[in-house]
Amino acid sequence: MDIRAVDTTLLNWTGDAIAVGLSEGTTELTGELAQLNEQLSRTIQELITDNEFEGKIGTTAVSRVGGDHSIRKIILVGLGKTEDYKLDTLRRAAASISRVAKQEKVKTLGISLPVVGDNARSTAQIITEGFLLALHQDDRFKSEKKPTKLETVDLLGLNGQDEAVRQADLIASGVILARELVNAPANSVTPVTMANLAEQLATDYGLALEILEQAECEALGMGAFLGVAQASDLPPKFIHLTYKPEGTPRKKVAIIGKSLTFDSGGLNIKGAGSGIETMKMDMGGGAATLGAAKALAQLKPDVEVHFICAATENMISGKAMHPGDILTASNGKTIEVNNTDAEGRLTLADALVFAEKLELDAIVDLATLTGACVVALGDDIAGLWSTNPDLAQQIKDAAERAGEKFWEMPMEEKYFDGLKSGIADMKNTGPRAGGSITAALFLKQFIKETPWAHLDIAGPVWTDKDHGVNNTGATGFPVRTLVNWVMS
Ligand code: BES
Ligand code: MG
Ligand code: ZN
Repeated sequence: MDIRAVDTTLLNWTGDAIAVGLSEGTTELTGELAQLNEQLSRTIQELITDNEFEGKIGTTAVSRVGGDHSIRKIILVGLGKTEDYKLDTLRRAAASISRVAKQEKVKTLGISLPVVGDNARSTAQIITEGFLLALHQDDRFKSEKKPTKLETVDLLGLNGQDEAVRQADLIASGVILARELVNAPANSVTPVTMANLAEQLATDYGLALEILEQAECEALGMGAFLGVAQASDLPPKFIHLTYKPEGTPRKKVAIIGKSLTFDSGGLNIKGAGSGIETMKMDMGGGAATLGAAKALAQLKPDVEVHFICAATENMISGKAMHPGDILTASNGKTIEVNNTDAEGRLTLADALVFAEKLELDAIVDLATLTGACVVALGDDIAGLWSTNPDLAQQIKDAAERAGEKFWEMPMEEKYFDGLKSGIADMKNTGPRAGGSITAALFLKQFIKETPWAHLDIAGPVWTDKDHGVNNTGATGFPVRTLVNWVMS
């Protein structure tokens, strides 16, 4: 399927279906839309009247154009109130259009939506992203596939924005990769397949790749990561992909994603009602890291980016960590594992130490780290912690542009008291209250001075509700934020 930014107007476009935006409270068709209405034997006005179409955000109406016209169907999409019109409106409108076009088996589609804030570039980018991401449906595990019939999508009046469309397409491909990794079950995505995928990305897009096998992790003293891995029948893989720009990089950063391809809880096994069957999503951080790698390797910013996934499973067996075991991380700190289900922070501890040795300007980790963060912020908002206000602001700005939601949480040092151990340097879990904060404080022990941000994405990586912008299942959160952040 081809998305094109074209200079065609509403009046001279021809094809299967044209989608037009309508603001809430539009009482009368004006301008080109009024003219098109006349051209199409007043189908648009009829459609509005028959459906009592009010232009509420996200709503749609569709009708066949009777008689012999150069356009066969008309799709109306609500834009909400004019004064609330912003990039996010556009994202939702494009998503709604995408779904209707798919349902209606449209082959050639025209989209006419108003430019937001005089910014044709962002408008083209957001429409393309919203459209592609709503179109994507993961039917890899179904025997019956429903491929889209779409061949071309024309963005009317956005001629000259081909680069924005191209970039959006690349970002969407990264988001879709992340979704597919998270959707795939734990008997399909394993530490080994994640490493293979990283190798594929390295080959396809010219990234440098280093995969540390168990013995190399041992040599580096990664006792925390390996403690988690020790009950699995699958070998752990410490994946390190690097994108290096031509010339001197403007900055050097690392993105570290929690990559538990399954989290059973270990001997503190997740019980009934704990959602153990959803724990294939526990590599959501790693999935977004690889998704961002795919997009960024093609977008080619002037920034050096290290993508790190300490991939393993948290399983049970005779070799499993016992609750109470003491592990030594690669910075020499000792950890009393008072709960084997707080495994993500153990794997991240060694990944953070590894990243800091690379002497970078910033390190961002992202992790489906705690149920406590979901309790605090719900399913749609990720938690953000940072030791550096500038970095926190950069992430917030990038997220705003991406239409992804974060809320900054306190790095409340006093709460580290809850992690004090009588026998080791720290325990891996504290009291139930403030559980996402103590998790962040735990991670902080493995960073010395590099500006660092931690994103707890346990809520937003997955959705059971249809938000109007993506289908149920994996969301690909927060690939768009990561890409925006690196590019900014
Ligand atoms: N992977 C889970 C966190 C999680 C919960 C992710 C819900 C996605 C959805 C993590 O490893 C975990 O088990 N955390 C425990 C920590 C507790 C033992 C301190 C939790 O949140 O219950
Ligand atoms: Mg766990
Ligand atoms: Zn986990």
